[in-house]
Amino acid sequence: MEPKPTDALEILSVELLERHRPTANQLRLLARELVLPIGWHYLLDLTWILARTGEVAGREVLDAGAGIGLIQWHLASHGARVLSVDRGDRSRLAWHLRRRYHVTGRERRDLAPVWWTVTSPRELARTLLALWRCHLRFGPTAPGRVVLHRGDLGDLAAVASDSVDLVVSVSALEHNPPGRLPAVVRELARVLRPGGRLIATLAAAADGDWYHQPSKGWCYSEATLRAAFDLSPGVVSNFHRHDDLLAALRANRELREGLASFYRRSGANGMPWGRWDPRYQPVGVCKVKTSTG
Ligand SMILES: C[S@@+](CC[C@H](N)C(=O)[O-])C[C@H]1O[C@@H](n2cnc3c(N)ncnc32)[C@H](O)[C@@H]1O
Repeated sequence: MEPKPTDALEILSVELLERHRPTANQLRLLARELVLPIGWHYLLDLTWILARTGEVAGREVLDAGAGIGLIQWHLASHGARVLSVDRGDRSRLAWHLRRRYHVTGRERRDLAPVWWTVTSPRELARTLLALWRCHLRFGPTAPGRVVLHRGDLGDLAAVASDSVDLVVSVSALEHNPPGRLPAVVRELARVLRPGGRLIATLAAAADGDWYHQPSKGWCYSEATLRAAFDLSPGVVSNFHRHDDLLAALRANRELREGLASFYRRSGANGMPWGRWDPRYQPVGVCKVKTSTG
């Protein structure tokens, strides 16, 4: 059934994994098939967002700060037309993703010819492995499409106002300082059609905003998020449970054991050197655009 569109502000509890077990399992499987490692808390983010998107087949969806992240591929698998926006260069998008999904660049520079993508024997092996896994389980193409667009979320001049049915954003907006966040949210709201939803996950702070240096991301206080997303005082949050929820996250075996191996290779990420030690936790925000903006 289509979820009722309501504003929400919620620190993501590990209980989400049990509540949305089929979705969580489906996401893990897709990540494995596409050989896309997922962030240490992303299963929570993705299940929370997908529980709120409703039917996406045939819908125009903007993935804000998409990188090569899983949600755009999941949505395209379910028939969405995804505009995938990121300031990073994804023009060398892996071959197997182009093969399984209908992917184009919004401009020529957004997607390089496919023969530019295999740059090393390791990349060739990864591509062949992913192609084999895709072949094993699915047909060659998903029903939706993904259009890559390189640009800043604070200036989406190429996207018309009121043109998008849904905006999703997975752990991306926190890479904008608190002072800049409201302008980014306003721009995302501008392109959203009235009645459409902006569903985003960011990182939560118990009290004041603070910067997590290893992941280069901000953790935002409840007050900062309420102001940036223009949430009314009537939207009830669970920030009062911040410390308990963080303790439960730290103790969660499933996320700890599922930690992707790339974390072990560097100290500059959300889980430096792969040592399970969550310092912050994800928070979900849902904002429904009213007809007055
Ligand atoms: C941690 S990654 C998450 C990527 C993806 N959402 C996923 O699920 O894997 C954050 C991404 O957000 C993008 N990003 C953050 N702020 C942005 C902005 N203002 N404009 C464009 N991209 C932005 C970054 O370039 C980066 O690719």
